[in-house]
Amino acid sequence: MSLSDMKGLFITLEGIDGAGKSSHLDEIEAAFRAAGHRVIRTREPGGTPLGESLRTLVLEQPMDALTESLLVFAARREHVRQVIGPALAQGDVVLCDRFTDATFAYQGAGRGFDVGVLSILEQWVQVGPALRPGLAGELLQPDLTLWFDLPPEVAAARLAGARLPDRFESQPVDFFRRVAAGYAERARRAPRFERIDADRPREAVRDQVLSALARRKLIP
Ligand code: TMP
Repeated sequence: MSLSDMKGLFITLEGIDGAGKSSHLDEIEAAFRAAGHRVIRTREPGGTPLGESLRTLVLEQPMDALTESLLVFAARREHVRQVIGPALAQGDVVLCDRFTDATFAYQGAGRGFDVGVLSILEQWVQVGPALRPGLAGELLQPDLTLWFDLPPEVAAARLAGARLPDRFESQPVDFFRRVAAGYAERARRAPRFERIDADRPREAVRDQVLSALARRKLIP
């Protein structure tokens, strides 16, 4: 099915901190624009004024894993209703830097928080008639998740000496081992995941991303 037949296209980028995913957004956006699509670029936590305020709290204030989960899902609620849903309804490509897989990986696998509770919050936030045409009663999920997979030790070395680390970036490498395992587990179960080997030079990573999009017939 070509993109023009679909109700928009929802693409997310995921991976542990330091995996380099965000540095490929420009090229992905350019590839879709060159193919004639409108593109909305956004991120989580964030994407709306309230979401960006919640992002600052989540990245800076001490809190437990339930509070963290409630805040990222509160930000997501606003984001899907105000930004993602309307963009998909117009047939746009939505490029979103992280989404709910990050909650299962960071709060679930990383913090060890109850994934049953996360699934309930996901249902509350991502089910709704206005979120995507034709999705009545179903969960809004990405169509494609580009998962930038990088060994946690390599990511830690990349992050060392970078800007002042936030509450997640300052976690020990063991935390990122659990987060990485959380992503791997989700990727095994969902065909929407496309694994990108992020332990390669930048151009090689970009080529993998663009060829994955072409292989899935999303760009020429
Ligand atoms: P970023 O640095 O890739 O923008 O992501 C912000 C941080 O927030 C990152 O360390 C992962 C974390 N995060 C969660 O813990 N749970 C979530 O649901 C999301 C979206 C991000």
